[in-house]
Amino acid sequence: MNAQSTSKEMNSYDMEREIMSEAFGIFNDLRQTGALCDAVIVVNGVKFTVHKIILCGCSTYFRALFASGWNVKGKDEYIIPGISPEAMKLVIDYAYTHSVLVTADNVESLLAAADQLNIPSIMEHCNNFLQDQLCRDNCVGIFIIADVYHLSELRESAFFFMVKNFKQVASSSEEFLQLTVEQLSSVVEKDELNVSQEEVVFDAILRWIAHEPSSRNCHIAVLLPKVRLARLNEEYLMKTVIKNDLVKASKECRRIVSDALKAVYDLDITGPPGSDFENPLTRPRLPSEILLAIGGWTESPASQVTAYDTRADRWADVALEHESPLSYHGSVYLDGFVYCIGGTDGLVCSNSVRRFNPFTRTWDRVAPMQTRRCYVSVAVADGYIYAFGGFDGLTRLNTAERYDPASNSWTFIQPMQERRSDASATTLHGKIYVCGGYNGNTTVQTAECYDPVTEQWTTIAPMRTPRHGVGVISFKDKVYAVGGTFQYRHLRSVEAYDPVTNCWQAVKPMHNTRSNFGIEVIDDLLFVVGGYTGSRTTKVECFDAETGTWYAAQDMCCSRSSLSCCVVPALPSMVE
Ligand SMILES: *[C@@H]1O[C@H](CO)[C@@H](O)[C@H](O)[C@H]1NC(C)=O
Repeated sequence: MNAQSTSKEMNSYDMEREIMSEAFGIFNDLRQTGALCDAVIVVNGVKFTVHKIILCGCSTYFRALFASGWNVKGKDEYIIPGISPEAMKLVIDYAYTHSVLVTADNVESLLAAADQLNIPSIMEHCNNFLQDQLCRDNCVGIFIIADVYHLSELRESAFFFMVKNFKQVASSSEEFLQLTVEQLSSVVEKDELNVSQEEVVFDAILRWIAHEPSSRNCHIAVLLPKVRLARLNEEYLMKTVIKNDLVKASKECRRIVSDALKAVYDLDITGPPGSDFENPLTRPRLPSEILLAIGGWTESPASQVTAYDTRADRWADVALEHESPLSYHGSVYLDGFVYCIGGTDGLVCSNSVRRFNPFTRTWDRVAPMQTRRCYVSVAVADGYIYAFGGFDGLTRLNTAERYDPASNSWTFIQPMQERRSDASATTLHGKIYVCGGYNGNTTVQTAECYDPVTEQWTTIAPMRTPRHGVGVISFKDKVYAVGGTFQYRHLRSVEAYDPVTNCWQAVKPMHNTRSNFGIEVIDDLLFVVGGYTGSRTTKVECFDAETGTWYAAQDMCCSRSSLSCCVVPALPSMVE
């Protein structure tokens, strides 16, 4: 009974809609022939014959216009300024049909018309259209439009789009040059501004000023204090900022720069940790991604998760529920979760897969692998997680399996050509590379590549050096094989494979020897974290491909090896 009466109600609702739309179809037909029309709208000399009552139905502006006392009785022509005939046609069509096709070409004039005529539903259509179109090339323009028409949610989305894509937007968007000084200032002062180097901010300000030097030169004094000057590369501060003509010409700027120099000095020499977060010249920007170092061996296997913020060059514990320890596992980030795969608790080789949610900071478990795998290699390709080789407690494995998060199940794929335990894997351009490892007798020099499309393995050129406990990662269109162990020696050497030439080439070696460390790419730098250098180490270093140099980064608080690293989007908790 109940169900029946509901469906009956729905029917009467549908019927009502049908009658309405039929009626509006008829009104529209009448309009086309001019029948029963009682007003003419004139814009820019173009006339539209309409029914007052229909326009009143969608716009309070028309209601006021037609109903107001000052309108001389009998007058039926209304001249409306400030709206293009194209936009007026769309508005009138909308009043009769309740539909409008918003396009990139008409959205601005339509929005202006809907704003003037006070038609919220058209504003809403335009708003949704712009929201869907948001990209690097138009985010500034959309921000400016949203600001004009007080579309606060759209303004906010466009604003954070600019903040997140600041580097590209500031260097190549033409619309960027149209921002007002207040708008630009509100962008560059954000902690969330996604720049790995503060130089980007100073350059952006100069580019914006250079667009209209005569009126904008004076704004340097407003904008310069928003640059985290003390976070600039020191040489850049000395050579580029201090010597800049605009900076030199402004007394205010000279004072700010001298404060910054002092802050740089303090930053190097003293300062309780965290004090630099207070000073606007030294406060680091918030990271857009952070690096997690998971598990590993400290005194014993650990369950610790620590997070590294590249922007502040700082490690922090990510507090969470206790989990049983794990080391010699693999970890990957996929769709909001960090998966920790296989490894050992120090006693047995594991096939379990634990899943860490960095937002809630909680753990759970998903389906275990078919095989126990300690010293496992892992990679993600096309939404699947792959686990390769490892050690099951008895033998070194050549088997491989794939996890589908949708079905929560592991399936064997083609085995590798070599047994590989303590190898490492990465994905480059859709193909997975597994390099080195230990086969039970010797350290492996070969490397192979799995194509998920053909489901086949191909042997690629062997590395220059056999490596197990190696770190393999894709970086700048190459596969890097870093460190590891060979003949009981821990390695400093690094090599990179170019799939185009099928060749390995030597890369600048690390400062430290290391094997069984964490490896990841973040902020365009290749990081290696902890590992064995003979004993366990706290040391972290990173490789900059542009300068071809390794730099020391902040050490971890405890020495750790056989950990694994992965990069996750910035955590809300990191703001603290
Ligand atoms: C931050 O900027 C970099 C490049 O400048 C970009 O690769 C990265 O995707 C941006 N991060 C976010 C969260 O948009």
